[in-house]
Amino acid sequence: MPQHTFILNGKTVTVDVDDDVRVLWVLRDVLGVTGPKYGCGINVCKACTSHINGKAFNPCSVRVADLTPTDEVTTIEGLPATVGKDLHPMQQAWLDRDVAQCGYCQPGQIMAAVAKVHQARAEGHEITDADLDEIRNVCRCGTYVRIREAIKEGAAGM
Ligand code: FES
Ligand code: FES
Repeated sequence: MPQHTFILNGKTVTVDVDDDVRVLWVLRDVLGVTGPKYGCGINVCKACTSHINGKAFNPCSVRVADLTPTDEVTTIEGLPATVGKDLHPMQQAWLDRDVAQCGYCQPGQIMAAVAKVHQARAEGHEITDADLDEIRNVCRCGTYVRIREAIKEGAAGM
């Protein structure tokens, strides 16, 4: 089988899988990185949201062959290391606000939130309610009010 190399949470990894295997299955089934969740597999629910080169992406919809050796994939497992702490400020805000209910969507929610804060700052402003409206991550438990409060609090700590 073909080999594919990319950077995962700061370390170079090489996997032996067919070109068409989606990155979510490489992460979860081949590499054992299960923070990104499988919800729909078709880029709708956003439960698998992770970062590629600092931007949000959905690994269920990206072929492993489309990654390059310099692409940096970050999952929730690698998020704290991006700030050199045990917990990223967004994760701390999540705990302080007791956001999670069943928890299934929450890694994707946090990864989407961090990417959105970075995107807003790259555009020269702090995160707004309009930015929050653009986050499309589904939560079956309906924790949206707490999510929005935690994102604002987490952003203040970033
Ligand atoms: S599992 Fe990736 S968007 Fe639903
Ligand atoms: S906390 Fe249950 S799906 Fe969001």
